[in-house]
Amino acid sequence: MNKPHLLSINDLGRDGIVEVLNVAESFAEVERRTMKKVPALKGKVVATLFFEESTRTRLSFETAAKRLSADVLSLSVASSSVKKGESLKDTLKTIEALGIDAVIIRHRSSGAPLQASRWLEDISVINAGDGWHEHPSQGLLDAFTVRQAWAGDLNVDPKETGAELFEGKRIVIVGDIAHSRVARSETLAYKALGADVVLCAPATLLPKDSVNWGVEVTHDLDAELGSADLVSVLRLQAERGGGECVPSLREFNADFAMTEKRMGALKAGARVTHPGPMVRGVEIASEVADDPRCLVTTQVTNGVAVRMAVLYLLLTGGGTQELEGGGK
Ligand code: CP
Repeated sequence: MNKPHLLSINDLGRDGIVEVLNVAESFAEVERRTMKKVPALKGKVVATLFFEESTRTRLSFETAAKRLSADVLSLSVASSSVKKGESLKDTLKTIEALGIDAVIIRHRSSGAPLQASRWLEDISVINAGDGWHEHPSQGLLDAFTVRQAWAGDLNVDPKETGAELFEGKRIVIVGDIAHSRVARSETLAYKALGADVVLCAPATLLPKDSVNWGVEVTHDLDAELGSADLVSVLRLQAERGGGECVPSLREFNADFAMTEKRMGALKAGARVTHPGPMVRGVEIASEVADDPRCLVTTQVTNGVAVRMAVLYLLLTGGGTQELEGGGK
């Protein structure tokens, strides 16, 4: 029997995204308690399998699984049989044979989690970032964070607002969009929720197929600042050749970085997000990273509740009602 997976934001659609955000609100309440652990996934086993570096995503998923009382196995690729030449398929089949319930995969190759989901019959696969393709849990936690901030401005319960706070909002995603899996997942999530998305980058850092993304495209960040409700800043993906697509870091910084001066041009109430890791002084000034309008630390905190929601929904199939009715 094939289990449900989270490979792309497209797996969810607008209603599915709102369900994750609402379940995550319930888990965020759990996170604020002294006793942060709930028995929802007691008896389940979750494995993380990261073929690329990570700080936030790995720690966040592992914390989320532990808070749900799942057992967590963390496969260190550097000390695994992958180093002896074992294929991805054989590694995954070994994990399946151990009776694990969910595997969280980060891989340098776009499509690796999709391929894994085809090989595995009895495990849920979660994409924790695949090449340039997608990073769905990051897109979800970014949407969760900005909805919470906008709901706070209006003093309303984010859960009650569904997707309505996104409607008509203008969201500018700036930086190395071509190599960014976060840009793809954010664009899919924000558009599904009803926002207008603008991609801002030099031509060399825009995806070749951006005309098919259903977004506006610009090279002029300054022209966007007065109308943006949210600026999502992305780093240059040096490990994927992003640095070679700009004449120099100084020029990229001059035209596309979020600087203190640019913060001054934002309209009242506008926010800045960054998925991390940040490279201060390149795509984001240190003063901006530490500005209260920049939500980067809140994004990391919220990542745990959102990933608890993803694991809970995939492994129990329970909706908000079930969670509130005794899942905790
Ligand atoms: N945002 C993000 O994916 O960070 P890590 O690479 O540290 O997991």
